[in-house]
Amino acid sequence: MELKIGVIKGDGIGPEIVEEAMKVLDKTGEHYGFTCQYTQLLLGGASIDAYGVPLTEETISEAKENQAVLMGSIGGDAKVSPWYKLEPSKRPEAGLLRIRKELNLFANLRPAVLYEELKGACPLKEEIVKDGFDMMIMRELTGGLYFGRRSTEEENGILTARDELTYNEEEIRRIAKRGFDIARKRKKKVTSVDKANVLDSSRLWRKIVEETAAEYPDVTLEHMLVDNCAMQLVKDPAQFDVILTENMFGDILSDEASMVTGSIGMLASASLNETKFGLYEPSGGSAPDIAEKGIANPIATILSAAMMLRFSFDLDKAADAVEAAVEKTLRAGYRTVDIMSEGKKQIGTSEMGDRICSYIK
Ligand code: NAD
Ligand code: IPM
Ligand code: MN
Repeated sequence: MELKIGVIKGDGIGPEIVEEAMKVLDKTGEHYGFTCQYTQLLLGGASIDAYGVPLTEETISEAKENQAVLMGSIGGDAKVSPWYKLEPSKRPEAGLLRIRKELNLFANLRPAVLYEELKGACPLKEEIVKDGFDMMIMRELTGGLYFGRRSTEEENGILTARDELTYNEEEIRRIAKRGFDIARKRKKKVTSVDKANVLDSSRLWRKIVEETAAEYPDVTLEHMLVDNCAMQLVKDPAQFDVILTENMFGDILSDEASMVTGSIGMLASASLNETKFGLYEPSGGSAPDIAEKGIANPIATILSAAMMLRFSFDLDKAADAVEAAVEKTLRAGYRTVDIMSEGKKQIGTSEMGDRICSYIK
């Protein structure tokens, strides 16, 4: 079986971490009977450097020709990178938002799991995380503030900026369904996160989520205001199973949840539409501060590749093998610097990829 995978190496640490994920995919293929045919695509800063724009029509159409896309993060340091001298619609992040929209990737799954072995890297007290936690953040990815109208103009001589936050009931219903579907396969609990005490878009969100819940009598639904959720994530992360939320809240809460697992370098993600196609990328950024040092944690990208095997290719056993290999590597005491703790062995990006490969069975 040949898997057709588009690869966007991205910027900053992107190429380093994607390299390790490809290594792990190839190794897994040797054991599980598949080969990967990779097509390199450009997005973000690398695309600006080559073509002057962060996303070309060619990248969009080639992405569509593949069964899935594996991606490293894009973007640079806004203080120093020339990409940020361009107008906002031509910067790296604009390319990422557009490809999400073009491919209709409305469902962004970000699993935040505390590995037994990483309790020492978690900043929370032992008593809070003694039983670990395993939550799935289901973030809406193609609506809300990210895709509303924007403007900056002078009004009565005062410079004024606007960003519009819109959700319609169909956008809410389709992501809510995804949230309940996934909860059904897990601990059957959905926490829908909104700001319904202030925002109309959140009040509509709550109404549609409740309507959807009626079709899932076996799943428990609770509502939580986003500010409380940010607090609860550090007070008692184990209370969560599926967190269902809109685009911006999901962006912020997922970074918070990632740190509770030990590091942003551990948080995988899958961006899905209504088909088997998906775009798989770590949830964190291109980390310009540590790029080209060979120290970035590739695990989020490797776990994203496991999500690809599961969701886009139905290769569940192969995905399990990758996840198990990550656990075994951590159990053996190997750590990149971001998850390092006393008594463990610190290794670099490439050695982490090699160690994980050695545990693929
Ligand atoms: P960031 O996530 O890149 O970095 C935040 C901190 O986390 C840094 O200290 C970084 O070194 C660390 N970090 C991130 N990933 C790591 C890893 N795999 N291993 C070890 N440490 C890691 O966030 P930022 O600095 O706010 O953003 C940098 C750039 O990345 C910006 O241009 C931003 O727009 C972009 N970005 C892209 C994506 C994406 O492509 N999906 C996501 C987030 C941010
Ligand atoms: C993410 C990133 C992106 C987002 C940025 C780079 C546009 O932070 O994937 O979490 O906000 O969605
Ligand atoms: Mn983010």
